Amino acid sequence: MIVRRAAGWLDERFGTNAIVHVTLKKIYPDHWSFYLGEFALYFFLVLVGTGIWLTFAFDASSQNAYASVLALADRSHPIGYVIRQVHHWAAVCFVAAILVHMGRIFFTGAFRRPRELNWMIGLCMLMLASFTGFTGYSLPNDGLSGTGLRIAYSVALSIPLIGRWAAGVFVGGNDFPTPQLTTHLYTLHVYFLPVLIAALLGLHLALVIYQKHTQFVRDPAHVVGRRFWPDYALRTIAALGATLAVLALLATFFEINPVGDYGPYRPWIVMNGAVPDWYAAFLEGSLRLGPATEFRIAGHPIPPVFWPGLVLPTVTFLFLLLWPFIEARLTGDRAPHDVLQRTTAVPLRVGVGAALIFDGLLLTIAAGDDQTAATLHVRLDTLVWVYRIALFAGPVIAGVLAARIAAEMRARVPAGGEPPPDAVLLVRNARGGYEEEGPQAG
Ligand code: HEM
Repeated sequence: MIVRRAAGWLDERFGTNAIVHVTLKKIYPDHWSFYLGEFALYFFLVLVGTGIWLTFAFDASSQNAYASVLALADRSHPIGYVIRQVHHWAAVCFVAAILVHMGRIFFTGAFRRPRELNWMIGLCMLMLASFTGFTGYSLPNDGLSGTGLRIAYSVALSIPLIGRWAAGVFVGGNDFPTPQLTTHLYTLHVYFLPVLIAALLGLHLALVIYQKHTQFVRDPAHVVGRRFWPDYALRTIAALGATLAVLALLATFFEINPVGDYGPYRPWIVMNGAVPDWYAAFLEGSLRLGPATEFRIAGHPIPPVFWPGLVLPTVTFLFLLLWPFIEARLTGDRAPHDVLQRTTAVPLRVGVGAALIFDGLLLTIAAGDDQTAATLHVRLDTLVWVYRIALFAGPVIAGVLAARIAAEMRARVPAGGEPPPDAVLLVRNARGGYEEEGPQAG
């Protein structure tokens, strides 16, 4: 009754009923992989919610940050510890969900014309999410995060010509650690980066609505979808429930980042077993495998960390950012596409994807090379050389192998093909049957 009256009140003033009607009737794709992006969205919402709570308890000064995080486990904050655990778990799951979502976009060709811009926006969000994670991980000013910051500071210093200035802006001075460091990180982590992600996310989703979802075709004459209400809405609410349940279980049973065990940051102590959160481990691995040689360019010394710490991630990022255009050029396919492809449809793409995944995994594993060497009883420098060779040979082998397998599979299963423009849109109804909607609406 109250809802009806509120709806009437709003409709009288803003004509909202028509919008609600269109929204409720909107048809969404009927495939599980379209929920992957939503998991990322829900992790982000949890991060914002728990993050706001944490700002009330956190002291953003370098002197008190560590104590204020430890105090979250006190009686003065009855649920502080759990909130912090949920927040950190949500952060690591957020990046994982983004990567899985990106994998579906990549391997099904959803990034092709006209969705190149949304691919690029997505990639920027991935980078921002990792950076937000890193700044948050560094906030407690504990022994582990301080070591990570010190590494990031050295990498920033290695930028030719502007390194000293850039590192100074990042940490708030030219002596590491500066008293302003935690306040700088806090501003980035709490205001700047999340707001930027939220703005890009709004644009990302607006573009999905404007350009409409891509579709998998069931057969050349049919496209299948579900109405927003009640079918799709109930499913997405279930996805939200699953996200919350997983986070609650993880936070309850698996402690993440126990800063109490690491102690406060002391610049003169470097913890050898230090490892970053999983999504930053590839950078750590890259630094461990990089050559220790200092090059000179035009008489200017370039520190060794510059290549693995900055050049490698930047080149990879730019390559992925431009991938929709690179692929269009290599395959000559510049036509607009609203229908997704089988993962094996473009062997070149499968090969490139496999090569990137191989190197990503290898660098991540290399982040723990000291522990692997100790466990396997091999010399650390032998292992480093094995990794270095695998870093170059591995992606070639993995890429060629994956592309050939894809080509073989493609030859066996005929490609799905585009539905004709007059393909009939079938809407799955609540009884599990299908209703014809008329020409495909998206
Ligand atoms: C903050 C992280 C992200 C969130 C919350 C998010 C969310 C979503 C959602 C809910 C959709 C609609 C459902 C779907 O198609 O799966 C979507 C579509 C899309 N996303 Fe993302 N996304 C994120 C990051 C990314 C990344 C990293 C990329 C690629 C680099 C990307 C590329 C795309 C594209 C191209 C579409 C349209 C796909 C289609 O219509 O089939 N997104 N995103």
